[in-house]
Amino acid sequence: MDKDITILGLESSCDDTAAAILQGRHILSSVVADQTALHAAYGGVVPEIAARAHAEMLDLCIERALLKAGKTLNDIDTIAVTAGPGLIGGVLSGVMMAKGLSAATGKPLIGVNHLAGHALTPRLSDGLDYPYLILLVSGGHCQFLRVDGPTAFLRLGSTIDDAPGEAFDKTARLLGLAQPGGPSVETRARQGDETRFAFPRPLLDRPGCDLSFSGLKTALLRQRDHLIADQGGLHVRDVDDLCAGFQAAIRDVLVEKSRRALAQSTGLTGFAVAGGVAANTPLRAALETLSASLGLPFVAPPLALCTDNAAMIAFAGAERYAVDGADDLTLGARPRWPLDTRTPSGLGSGRKGAKA
Ligand code: KG4
Ligand code: ZN
Repeated sequence: MDKDITILGLESSCDDTAAAILQGRHILSSVVADQTALHAAYGGVVPEIAARAHAEMLDLCIERALLKAGKTLNDIDTIAVTAGPGLIGGVLSGVMMAKGLSAATGKPLIGVNHLAGHALTPRLSDGLDYPYLILLVSGGHCQFLRVDGPTAFLRLGSTIDDAPGEAFDKTARLLGLAQPGGPSVETRARQGDETRFAFPRPLLDRPGCDLSFSGLKTALLRQRDHLIADQGGLHVRDVDDLCAGFQAAIRDVLVEKSRRALAQSTGLTGFAVAGGVAANTPLRAALETLSASLGLPFVAPPLALCTDNAAMIAFAGAERYAVDGADDLTLGARPRWPLDTRTPSGLGSGRKGAKA
């Protein structure tokens, strides 16, 4: 990749509006306007509200990103934008903005697959060489990808129902804890006894790397309702133990499936994890231990690059540009866009729309 290229990245596929300026692997600025407050009352992302907010925020984010980077539009060489997969209204807002900028300035336009943005992040953060294995775990994604190049991805397994972040969020809701659920559940799990309640380890009895998380939430609901029926409510200790048991089940499943995905792959330079759930300390530690036991470097990019952001889109755009060149103004917005078109897609969609 040309290290001197200065690239503007735009991201608007879910509930974060983001713009970033990148020069090679150097992040000059990365601005994220998060919409959590707009959707809070609805218990999930409302696509129409998200699309409107993206349309309102994109130009402000771009302006702020340019200002922070000390650049003007004239200094930008190329414009990269998430062209899918994701919520179509949001993706359209970003693609239209990028096309407008490209048409007005004559700068090349690059449509980026959002999942490629996540999957290439270990190269941006740590300069990891191809090929590597990455586990994407967030509120909308859960899959193992072998990454062989900027457009060469092999999916080894994915969730057949919920994404783990979604399961954490639902668990928090069932226990009356704050959203987003992951950090709330992790905090309560710290004092909990993970062995007190029996949680299943879904799909471990079946071969392969596919995952399932919806049964864990059902198990939690059953345990919770039992306790309420028996004792009239939940003690603090019960919530702690339920959180610990639930989190341990997610950890164990992800570690075992990672072991299998790694066993299927040869010649890897490392094992990486990305996505909001990668912030979970016990999970990170367990994956790192697994990687170390196999003698593989482990890469967990900083959280700001794991969650949705535009720096990863700019980077993936630059990598694709070097291989494929630019798109033109016929670039479309794609609600679905599997990274790996050879492997049949998983059934899971996640609350944020079918991602793979
Ligand atoms: O990657 P992300 O910011 O957005 C997308 O889903 O694309 O991930 C957000 C998800 C939420 O479901 C949140 O509950 C989860 O990541 N999360 C965590 C933790 N921090 C965030 N899950 C478990 N443990 C955490 N510490
Ligand atoms: Zn994402």
